[in-house]
Amino acid sequence: MGGSRPIGNLRATERARRRYEVAARLYRFADEHIRREWRERAVGEARGRVLELGVGTGSNLPLYDPRKVESVTGLDFSSAMLAKARSQPCKVPCRLERMDVQELAFADASFDTVIATLVFCTVPDPVLGLREARRVVRPDGRVVLLEHVRIEGVLGILQDVFNPLSVWLIGDHINRRTEQSLRVAGLEPVRVEHVAGEILQLLLAVPTR
Ligand SMILES: C[S@@+](CC[C@H](N)C(=O)[O-])C[C@H]1O[C@@H](n2cnc3c(N)ncnc32)[C@H](O)[C@@H]1O
Repeated sequence: MGGSRPIGNLRATERARRRYEVAARLYRFADEHIRREWRERAVGEARGRVLELGVGTGSNLPLYDPRKVESVTGLDFSSAMLAKARSQPCKVPCRLERMDVQELAFADASFDTVIATLVFCTVPDPVLGLREARRVVRPDGRVVLLEHVRIEGVLGILQDVFNPLSVWLIGDHINRRTEQSLRVAGLEPVRVEHVAGEILQLLLAVPTR
């Protein structure tokens, strides 16, 4: 992992990765707050050859439907998270790899679906990661995200105020404008659903022509 990215991004990525090497031990407590039905809504959108970014401890893996999904490639930059993912059952052929979302080692147009759940809140440069998703998804494929995002109004301002503290404490950006980032990355959001209030969104996007 590395390439020609600015040193600031490499440092931030390494800091985020180290956090997850430690957090892997406790992640099941956070996972308990993520409802299965939310995951099912996201994973239910996956088709064909699937790339799951930031697969974490593999909580989505048992949910892939072999009638719709041919294979899953799950990646994460944390080997501790991946080690836990390896013990998850999966009903479709599955391989797991250590990789940075911001620098994918796959050829262009390799996947029918690129999916990520609760990942782009921690990726240091979300647009860079989404550009990579855009590159590796087929022109007729889709990108599926389940993300907590910045909301409008007073609550959004509070998210802005508390974001530095959240980033400092747990490395989580609580005020990301993910729909906007998709557009900047060359992906057109075709569906945006509110999953838990306005804060947790399911976003479906396709490559911009
Ligand atoms: C909040 S966890 C979510 C894990 C899983 N997607 C889920 O829904 O339970 C975020 C995951 O993204 C991974 N991650 C964050 N930034 C990443 C990056 N730049 N490259 C690869 N993985 C990354 C972390 O290691 C962690 O496993």
